[in-house]
Amino acid sequence: MERVRLRFARGVVVEFVDRELGIKRVEEWAARGTRFVQLVYGPEGCGKTAWLKQSAVLLRSWGYDVIYVNTLQRDYVAYIDLKEAVRRLAEAAAERSGVAEVKLADLAIQLAKYALKRRRKRIAVLADDVFKAIGLSNAAGYVMWMLSIIEYPPGDYESVVAVVATNEGISRRELGKHRWADLRIMWNMPREGFKQLYELLPGEEPPFEEAWRLTGGNPSVLAKLYEEDWDVSKVVEEVVVKGDFNFLQTWRSWLEEAVEDPDILWREDAPRELVERLIEWNFIVFNLPKREPWLWVDAPPPESDGEIGVGRHVAWQTPLHREAVRRAIDVV
Ligand SMILES: Nc1ncnc2c1ncn2[C@@H]1O[C@H](COP(=O)(O)OP(=O)(O)O)[C@@H](O)[C@H]1O
Ligand SMILES: [Mg+2]
Repeated sequence: MERVRLRFARGVVVEFVDRELGIKRVEEWAARGTRFVQLVYGPEGCGKTAWLKQSAVLLRSWGYDVIYVNTLQRDYVAYIDLKEAVRRLAEAAAERSGVAEVKLADLAIQLAKYALKRRRKRIAVLADDVFKAIGLSNAAGYVMWMLSIIEYPPGDYESVVAVVATNEGISRRELGKHRWADLRIMWNMPREGFKQLYELLPGEEPPFEEAWRLTGGNPSVLAKLYEEDWDVSKVVEEVVVKGDFNFLQTWRSWLEEAVEDPDILWREDAPRELVERLIEWNFIVFNLPKREPWLWVDAPPPESDGEIGVGRHVAWQTPLHREAVRRAIDVV
């Protein structure tokens, strides 16, 4: 398998590692096409973009024309021999004004349609982080529009693979209600896979166990800790800026319990207001599905693991998010 190279941290480029089940998942999609749009949701920095980029390369090798866009990073990949499509993506990405992001999101779908019209038989359209750019209220409309490629294609096709990835917990809830999107969750990396990534880091690193305990397998947290010379406080600070100190203080007694066991937030009497905010800030993932492999893109998290803040129904996105909350409610 040709592995993509990814910029990991300052001065560190790595090859895509692990995620074997996630790759298998794409293989299944490629074999049959996706009947519905696959909505992939997971913690910030868990590796959705890396996996999609690796998937793009694989899909190409399996005979697909591939259009990948990432609006947040103003990035795109076009494995397609239609000059017009490539030109329009390049132009949109280069645009200086704020419309570049929306344009890229729209183009992914428009160009997939255009390719089908031009008799391309196998199309993969991969939309990464588009909801922030187009606005969360347009998320459902966007996914339905993408579905229309599958259901009302402008030409005959053999197979379409349609994937939308997001870390917006709110969009997940909104879209999860509909039958036309299959929600699949991607978790942080499993321990063994994460270890492979950790071992690629140059220089002296703290022992693996410590890295695992701090990151819970989240590659982006690993990258940040590496860049900050493992100054945990600094990285925690970065996380907290997203939260609201005063707000967290108000819910102190609940949070004191939630840092010990996030499933407390699953209780019926847990304050909705608190839960909503923690979802909105991407601090927790609420309503984790059963650990049935088919509900997950790659390996599911453990059933429950107090060390890294994973409960049966609710989990801290990473141990550092939990640590940020712990510090916020301790400081008075
Ligand atoms: N399987 C992997 N192999 C190598 N690097 C990875 C892998 N998954 C993620 N990374 C790296 O970790 C960082 C965060 O991953 P990213 O894909 O951006 O997360 P997400 O899109 O879920 O927010 C990136 O630098 C990415 O290249
Ligand atoms: Mg991403």
